[in-house]
Amino acid sequence: MIDRATVEKILDAVRIEEVIGDFVSLRKRGANYLGLCPFHQDKNPSMSVSATKGIFKCFACGKAGNAVTFLMEHEHLSYWEALRYLAKKYHIEIVEKEETAEEIASRMRYESLLVVSEYAQKFYADVLWNSEVGKAIGLSYFRERKFSDETIRKFGLGYAASRPLTLSGAALKAGYKKEYLVASGLCLEREGSGELYDRFFDRVMFPIHSISGRVIAFGGRTLKTDKSVAKYVNSPQSEIYDKSRSLYGIFQAKNSIAKADKCILVEGYADVISMHQAGVTNVVASSGTSLTVEQIRLIKRFTDKITIIYDGDAAGIKAALRGIDLVLEEGLSVKVVLLPPEDDPDTFAKSHNLIEIQEYIEENEKDFISFKSDLLLRESERDPVRRSQVIRDIVQSVAVVPDPILRNVYVEMVAEKFEMKPDSIVATIGEFRRKKRALERSRRRFDGQPQPWQQAASAQGPAPEELVPEDLPDTDGAPQPGPAEAYPLKDGYLAVPERELTYYLVKFGEYPMYFEEDMYYGAEQHEAITVSQYIRDALADDDLVFVNELYRTIFERYFAFLATLPREDSEVMQQRIIRWFTAGDDPAVARAVLDLILEEHPLTVRTYEESITPEEQALGRTVPKSVLLYKLRITDQQCTATAKEITLTQRGGDQEKLRELVARLQILNTVKNRLSKELNRL
Ligand code: CTP
Ligand code: MN
Repeated sequence: MIDRATVEKILDAVRIEEVIGDFVSLRKRGANYLGLCPFHQDKNPSMSVSATKGIFKCFACGKAGNAVTFLMEHEHLSYWEALRYLAKKYHIEIVEKEETAEEIASRMRYESLLVVSEYAQKFYADVLWNSEVGKAIGLSYFRERKFSDETIRKFGLGYAASRPLTLSGAALKAGYKKEYLVASGLCLEREGSGELYDRFFDRVMFPIHSISGRVIAFGGRTLKTDKSVAKYVNSPQSEIYDKSRSLYGIFQAKNSIAKADKCILVEGYADVISMHQAGVTNVVASSGTSLTVEQIRLIKRFTDKITIIYDGDAAGIKAALRGIDLVLEEGLSVKVVLLPPEDDPDTFAKSHNLIEIQEYIEENEKDFISFKSDLLLRESERDPVRRSQVIRDIVQSVAVVPDPILRNVYVEMVAEKFEMKPDSIVATIGEFRRKKRALERSRRRFDGQPQPWQQAASAQGPAPEELVPEDLPDTDGAPQPGPAEAYPLKDGYLAVPERELTYYLVKFGEYPMYFEEDMYYGAEQHEAITVSQYIRDALADDDLVFVNELYRTIFERYFAFLATLPREDSEVMQQRIIRWFTAGDDPAVARAVLDLILEEHPLTVRTYEESITPEEQALGRTVPKSVLLYKLRITDQQCTATAKEITLTQRGGDQEKLRELVARLQILNTVKNRLSKELNRL
């Protein structure tokens, strides 16, 4: 079995449009992709793929799911095979084992570190907005730099003051553990006394967010011009922060990156913020470190086009050059924009309006071939030695491009630019690639790690990149059953409302229910009740347990998992629950839950108004209705069963039993009437 952490890692890495794109040609449509549905005879593209939601749906045949279920259906893989396929595609090593107690503990620790970071972010922001020093120094600094209040809030900026306004003081008082304050890098322990002190003080604070918006680290900028003070102090690497895998601004930028199908890469915090404020929101920074492969892969989840905008000075150019090959090697296209030498993106964004910025980018964006040749050739265009060096340099960049078709496009471009025959370029590329492969092979040998292709391929066999990840993982036995096979239905009549209730549970379980009266008295008048509490109580009232095993299993697991979750925002909790179910190790349950959450309004008895109000707002009516329908059907079944028994007893002639049964049927009928009346009233 693949352990939970690895499953998470795989699901984090997956870009659904890439996975489906390997089988179906997809066209971009706004933030989504559109393609011919492979599950029915599709003449017009009816399958929509949402990159940000990670799901696909065919509007013609109704087939829907995520990347995992797509592979299960399309490639006829089991759940585990699909995960292994994805692990291979995204170069994730699979750890096959159960989570140990220690691992569970470390997961809790991870969460605690995030909570501490979030507290710190709120603390620094509070100091910025509400304390005298914060306002006088931090806030006025940001305003001087022309950051609007809205921008300051959007990026969660703050101020770290010094005594007595210390984070360590406030956090300890608020009950946060010393251990986590230290492990998150926010505080340090004085040697000897063990007293806690702050890493950040007298600095304006830039929180760094994970892709899902959690605060994982900080950058603190000093306001002093004194050269002996470091301009930036950053959070150290920690269990929650790996700087080579983070990009500043990715959380705020990811949607516009997908929408624009382009990511602009700048160097610093201020660059990202000023560009956002100017209206260019698909911008992130690698903040001080040179770009890494992991950072590029992060971007690749949203687009495969990167535009680097660095300072026009020597350091900026050097950094841009370094980034180019790395981006190309990851299969993305790269362009470079150089700003006027006196500018950086921050100053440029402030001195120009949105149109001007966009125009400047459009006019000055150069593909890497033009960028390199313009830059490296400049005055020495006529110098043949220099010229051939530059061509070699460019061809070397082309050689790292993994996609042979794209590589060919670049070859044509180089050939045209330098008036050369493409054949000679192709030959040089072949030479580079052979060398590179040999180098990789020897490096792997040194690592002592036999690679899968080393066993699979002979010396003359295909090159490694041609084998991975197309070679499918070994299947370990029969295909995994779907929900219907693993959990056969016992009772189809009751399965309808059971499914409905399960739908409300998994999709809205932690949402509050608002009842009609709340509109008049306000929600405070009532004890707030969540959908899951309501359903559980309603069933417990009549000692009901779902008859069908699939729904009973989901029901039981739901509450078992819920008990381990901290209370927080409904939507966040629900997301976690869904994530836990759909990524869980019971494929039949995962599948059933996924089917449910992709559905809308399955309610059998539903009014016109309900069909047009947002589902979350109608929960106060729809959920009770669903419960009533369930109880009605159970009662109805009991009526039928009792009536049948009466017929049998009449033949047998046991008068005592007969009277009992008739009385029972009468009660059941009364209950039935009451239930249907109530159902109609709702
Ligand atoms: N950086 C860093 N440590 C430093 C200097 C720089 O981590 N000692 C990182 C920061 O992420 C910074 C980026 O490198 O944002 C770019 O550096 P620089 O251009 O010096 O900083 P700016 O953000 O442009 O700061 P400012 O405009 O306020 O001078
Ligand atoms: Mn700057």
